[in-house]
Amino acid sequence: MSESAYHTPVLLKEVTFYLDLDSHDNGIYVDCTLGGGGHSEAILEKIGPAGKLIGIDQDIEAIEAAKKRLDKYGDRVTIVHDNFISLGKILLKTNISRVDGILIDLGISFHQLETPSRGFSFNQQSLDSKLDMRMNQNQDLNAYDVVNLYPEKELRRIFFELGEETYGGKIAAEIIRSRQKKKIETTGELIDVIRRATPPDYRFSKEHGSWASKVFRAIRMEVNQELPVLQEILPQALECLKPAGRLAVISFHSLEDRIVKKQFVAWQKSGLVEILTPAPIEASPEELAFNSRSASAKLRVIKKL
Ligand SMILES: C[S@@+](CC[C@H](N)C(=O)[O-])C[C@H]1O[C@@H](n2cnc3c(N)ncnc32)[C@H](O)[C@@H]1O
Repeated sequence: MSESAYHTPVLLKEVTFYLDLDSHDNGIYVDCTLGGGGHSEAILEKIGPAGKLIGIDQDIEAIEAAKKRLDKYGDRVTIVHDNFISLGKILLKTNISRVDGILIDLGISFHQLETPSRGFSFNQQSLDSKLDMRMNQNQDLNAYDVVNLYPEKELRRIFFELGEETYGGKIAAEIIRSRQKKKIETTGELIDVIRRATPPDYRFSKEHGSWASKVFRAIRMEVNQELPVLQEILPQALECLKPAGRLAVISFHSLEDRIVKKQFVAWQKSGLVEILTPAPIEASPEELAFNSRSASAKLRVIKKL
């Protein structure tokens, strides 16, 4: 698989600009969400021959892809397979106390989405995929457990709160009915359940399975605990920055963006940071034309005071 086929980094120019890389020759940066290493490579290219990067990802496939891509930078790069909530511990182990900049590019990569065996996708090619959706392949909880073991009340909560799915209650009830007869094992079976629980006009004129996207997103966020880890990483990231260091966060939906915005505003009110992006930065028309995934990306950046 080619590097760009793994994942096309979003808002690449904007990220390198806001991290202020040009004035940080030989700086130390952390990419908390390595993916295919696209953002990391751009950072390494700009920070000078002694600049260093620590890249973290909880997905072993991302680690392998990024290792290959960043191999040419030798010992300027340290790659760590872990959840980014271990950031503080990871820096301690690397004997680094504070860094010049941190990037968090949330969500999943194109590679994760497009690999049927990972179970993230509801497209036609993935209907036989086992329900999985773990970013970290070593984790216990997966989508099968959420769908087949969670009580109805919990399913309703995740569909309403994380999926913002109007038919969350009906879908939760249909899941319970279906799994009493037979466990729901594949993404195709889950799509059939959602089809039975939603009215035809809800699905009318939408592409195959796209009406299932909110439920898939909710289950993915639950499996990977995406909102709790975001809440946890932000204060840690601030703590790990040098004065004048920058934190850049790219989010892909309003629930994430709200958490980032609220935290940044609270810090600014307390005099801890300056917000460099009063409104979130979004993709340019040029980027939108070649990467549709960038359409929902929002970049927010702060500078530590
Ligand atoms: C959108 S992709 C990042 C793409 C990357 N910026 C690039 O240029 O290729 C998000 C990556 O972050 C990883 N990830 C998401 N949440 C994580 C977490 N809590 N800890 C570590 N890695 C995480 C995912 O496994 C995925 O590989």
